Amino acid sequence: MDKIMLVVGARPQFIKAAPVVEQELDGYEWLLVHTGQHYDYRMSRVFFEELSIPTPDRQLEVGPMAPAPQVAKMIERLWEVVQEDKPAVCAVFGDTNSTLAGALAADLAGIPLAHVEAGLRSGDMKMPEERNRVITDRLSDVLFVPHKRAADTLKTENVAGKIIEVGDTMYETALKAMPLAEDVKRLSPFGMERGEYVLVTCHRQATVDDAGELGKVVETLFDIPLTVVFPVHPRTEKRLHEFGLWDRWAEHENVTITEPTGYITTLALIYNAAAVITDSGGIQREAYLYDVPTVTLRDVTEWTETVDGGGNVLAGSDPKAIKSAVQKAIDRPIYDRRVRRELVGDPKPSKRIADALGKLASQQRSD
Ligand code: UD1
Repeated sequence: MDKIMLVVGARPQFIKAAPVVEQELDGYEWLLVHTGQHYDYRMSRVFFEELSIPTPDRQLEVGPMAPAPQVAKMIERLWEVVQEDKPAVCAVFGDTNSTLAGALAADLAGIPLAHVEAGLRSGDMKMPEERNRVITDRLSDVLFVPHKRAADTLKTENVAGKIIEVGDTMYETALKAMPLAEDVKRLSPFGMERGEYVLVTCHRQATVDDAGELGKVVETLFDIPLTVVFPVHPRTEKRLHEFGLWDRWAEHENVTITEPTGYITTLALIYNAAAVITDSGGIQREAYLYDVPTVTLRDVTEWTETVDGGGNVLAGSDPKAIKSAVQKAIDRPIYDRRVRRELVGDPKPSKRIADALGKLASQQRSD
């Protein structure tokens, strides 16, 4: 049977692809390819287990390395997959190095390319993720956008591909998992109760690769009046050690440091938090869906609906701005929250994506 290739490789992509790969295709089968960008149990396999994602058909096992050789190696290995399996269409997700590699590989092999989560812009071309998005959107034949604003952005940029508004599969996955996230028993490994703590995550290069920036964030978090629960991304852990900040951080009585948490545990930590402080795109959205007040450690966000809709404050790295936003966030009563179910439309984003990919593959076959 002809195949539709889905390229994933990093944590957020497993979440975005999970509902898509669950969809039945008419006349095609999925070819799920894992680049290996995220490779250990905590960053990869736990997501496949918790979200019941089938084992990837191909594991490219491109491990950690500098971005240029990493992307080059992914392209080389994707080329081998393409030669053997001859997929009719390739779809990529989000904005990581795996997205870029999948897009370039499809383009160079002459396979129609679809981008899930197209049209998002932070306006900051210094971020590798922003460059990955812009390049991928340029190369795509079909651009699946989460909302009208993203569609308008792409029209302004005059992209060549077809723009289809489908909604956001990350909201879809998080809403489906909500009954599990509500369960306060999931907080017991951290010794926490609902509303007793603030969840903190950070991993972006702009936040963690600069000793001054990371030091500022660490110092600011010590002053928060609630316990900080902090699942540490491997990049952040490495930097905290390099910059000599780890011991101070790990030994602080106000801070509970943990390994990266699995998907369901992360959702439970978000759902039950007094507030969330993050630089992650996914966590901003999950908190918005569950209506948990959020302070984002960036000056800009691609997820503008979370700011416009209230609840997400962009505080950058300024200690005063962070502290005042966090205070406001934790002052908001927890019983006042209303889950934004309407963010997941009908038909679901994953169904729209699977149908459109099937159509694209059929057009390809009849050409
Ligand atoms: C990547 C994405 C980012 C996404 C994030 C989600 C790019 C450019 N960035 O950032 O958009 O939001 O994933 O988590 O693609 N490591 C491990 N174990 C793993 C994976 C990584 O220890 O399973 C270590 C690596 O050795 C590396 C570091 O973590 O030093 C960072 O990994 P990397 O793949 O560079 O990207 P992320 O920072 O995770």
